[in-house]
Amino acid sequence: MHARMESKRLKVIRGLTDRRIDALLTLLSENSTIVISGAKIAKEIGVTRGTVWRWVQKLRALGVDVKGHPRTGYHITRIPDILAPKLISRRLLNTPFWKRTYHFFKVESTNDIAMKLGDEGEPHGAVVIAEEQTAGRGRAGRSWTSEKSAGIYCSVLLRPPISPAQASLLTLVAGLAARDATADELDTAPDVRWPNDLLIGKRKFCGILTEMQAEPDRVHYAVVGIGINVNQTPMPAEIESFATSLRMASGRMHSRLEILVRLLRKLDHYYNLLLADGPEPIVRRFSQVSSYYSGKRVRITTANDSFVGTTKGLEPSGILRVARDDGRVVPVISGDVAEA
Ligand code: BTN
Repeated sequence: MHARMESKRLKVIRGLTDRRIDALLTLLSENSTIVISGAKIAKEIGVTRGTVWRWVQKLRALGVDVKGHPRTGYHITRIPDILAPKLISRRLLNTPFWKRTYHFFKVESTNDIAMKLGDEGEPHGAVVIAEEQTAGRGRAGRSWTSEKSAGIYCSVLLRPPISPAQASLLTLVAGLAARDATADELDTAPDVRWPNDLLIGKRKFCGILTEMQAEPDRVHYAVVGIGINVNQTPMPAEIESFATSLRMASGRMHSRLEILVRLLRKLDHYYNLLLADGPEPIVRRFSQVSSYYSGKRVRITTANDSFVGTTKGLEPSGILRVARDDGRVVPVISGDVAEA
């Protein structure tokens, strides 16, 4: 890679988790039943024993239960639920997502980082993950509450060979992937509210923000930002009336690592399906898993309109058709959809 490009990119990724902490986590996870001496760890990951000790303390502060101390050596009793790149990428080897996984303990917004990486020529398939976001963004200028290590905050950089007019299909693709990745965690599969909110009952636990850089006929890159409330309990007071988490719904803890791996595999599956066979299988799958597909009474709120109607399926481009009460069927390109 060109040296100037590399140094520019490094500026974007300031705050990136040190690859050697990732190596430490992986080493401990791979040897979770045995005690490994501080000296051996230090040698394997190329730091001093003092650094190993400091990083162990940091992992403990993040809730990883590392047993032992410098003299006896260290071990963990179970695989920690930190979204460490090494643990993720080895399980994504046959997807485009294994190679460039950027992990942060704390960022403003993973979408911002992925957009900057996109501007700087980062290839298709880069994944930005954070344990915590301080300015997580939602659609329509809203914020996304991103409590530390409780949810999944992830943005994927895609360079799809499609036009901006087809880009809403990417949004559906991401919603379907998130739906399949979380369905097995629940007794009753979640509902998908067009285009891609995931609901348990009437409460939302997953939202997707797709942003892109495009010309009229070509998408340069798209960033699909996915937020999943996994182990939050309770939800913050300001959102508890309409938001929930998998844990609040099921009454148990869920593995963020497992869900994220499934999410990225499913995203790969639906993305390939879209490119290979076009919108038809995506729209068909949406019709199977979303109660909003057809016959649902909804209130649509756009920047300059608000009306009630009944959903009438999707157009091949992924746009929602709604029959207004005066009988006119109108396309809804974007906007808020609420059950009426
Ligand atoms: C919405 O439903 O309004 C969309 C929410 C999207 C939240 C995710 S969390 C990861 C990524 N980074 C952000 O700042 N937003 C998205």
